[in-house]
Amino acid sequence: MAESAELRVGDQTVELPVVEGSEGERAIDISELRAQTGCITLDPGFANTGSCQSGITFIDGERGVLQYRGIPIEELAEKATFLEVAYLLVYGKLPDKEQLEYYRESIRYHTMIHEDFRSFFGALPKDAHPMAACSCAVGALATFYPDSLDPRDPRQVEVSIHRLIAKLPTLVAYAYKHSIGQPAMYPRNSLRYVANLLYMMFGNPCEEYDVDPVVAKALDLQFILHADHEQNCSTSSVRLVGSSMVNLFAAISAGINALWGPLHGGANAEVIDMLAAIRDEGMSGRQFVERAKSRNDTSRLMGFGHRVYKNFDPRAKILKKACFDVLDKLGVHSKLLEIAVELEEIALKDDYFVERRLYPNVDFYSGVIYNAIGTPSNMFTAMFAIGRLPGWIAHWAEMHADPQFRIGRPRQIYTGRTKTAFTPIDQR
Ligand code: CMC
Repeated sequence: MAESAELRVGDQTVELPVVEGSEGERAIDISELRAQTGCITLDPGFANTGSCQSGITFIDGERGVLQYRGIPIEELAEKATFLEVAYLLVYGKLPDKEQLEYYRESIRYHTMIHEDFRSFFGALPKDAHPMAACSCAVGALATFYPDSLDPRDPRQVEVSIHRLIAKLPTLVAYAYKHSIGQPAMYPRNSLRYVANLLYMMFGNPCEEYDVDPVVAKALDLQFILHADHEQNCSTSSVRLVGSSMVNLFAAISAGINALWGPLHGGANAEVIDMLAAIRDEGMSGRQFVERAKSRNDTSRLMGFGHRVYKNFDPRAKILKKACFDVLDKLGVHSKLLEIAVELEEIALKDDYFVERRLYPNVDFYSGVIYNAIGTPSNMFTAMFAIGRLPGWIAHWAEMHADPQFRIGRPRQIYTGRTKTAFTPIDQR
């Protein structure tokens, strides 16, 4: 017999179904609760609320497990490329050789953006934050492709997915070039996905630019580790916005904005700024950790802590090792990496962090790699967005295919004034 839970509200007892996931996670289905009792549930920050059932990514925060479509992140990091992972997330299985070749070709074919994007970026201030530029550029794709905006038409959705995955690196690179006053580089489609991005970011029309394979591999790894993380803030935003039946470009643009925040994807830039400030101000790691603990100081140890991971973040483990490998291969000595390692060692032994179960998250080491390969810190989160894009798309598509699909519309408990008469202006 299916398991159920009993809930007593006043003198009424209701029976609620228990739903079990494929990895044994359990949830109490409260979708009929209000109809039966008049009560809703209240869960600020949604720390205990499942918004959907999903077959894309599994996380066990207690054991530090992360799997995309059942495959452990450690294996994907070692054996897959980012485009294979993107395919896996969006289509549910790894591509065979033919599928991968077709997919690569299609992505390659769509990398160019409309020439009018030059004037679009040209209209933005030079110091526009790349995340603002990218979110509005992605939203603007809807103006260039009015023929593929219907979320109910599979052909239109498919072409929009390919356009997005292909064009986001070009848009990110254009945003960067605009911010430094260099001419935007057209994509070079003989290059692979990540190499093409590096070429568009760091090449210029006057010089030859050879992509360093060590750098390309490091970036590919970062993208794989960022590709999905189930119902995080930006993915939930993509689902919620997408649930209004708006087009995919608009939903992804919302995701980019959500990712920008310093508590989410923006943390990678904050980490590097924090490490640079410690270096430049000559502060010790211990001094900074004390500041991060203090209630009288707003500093946090950026790149530490996670809503779900309570023992370790498997992505941070992989990235820490990658940091040492990449810097070693590039022959870069990084003071910032030294400071990061020192901060981690201090925090992991400190009661404050131990009691609250705060560990390095994916953003703690990712910025050190971006920094070592020459990416300015204001571009880190835009790079993260390229990595997260397939996850957002996979969730958007899964939501639309769900037979239980409805517009997302949370409720609230109202705590404002009760019914109040309107006061005419001369009596206020
Ligand atoms: N430094 C110092 N104290 C911290 C930190 C930190 N990095 N993170 C959490 N705490 C403290 C927090 O002050 C609170 O203490 P108390 O119980 O005394 O009030 C306790 O730990 C619980 O924190 P919380 O903010 O209630 O936890 P949350 O699950 O709501 O937030 C978080 C998770 C990731 C937003 C938070 O840990 C944080 O702000 N970390 C720094 C920012 C960061 O690295 N974000 C990247 C997250 S992973 C990648 C991504 O999402 O893109």
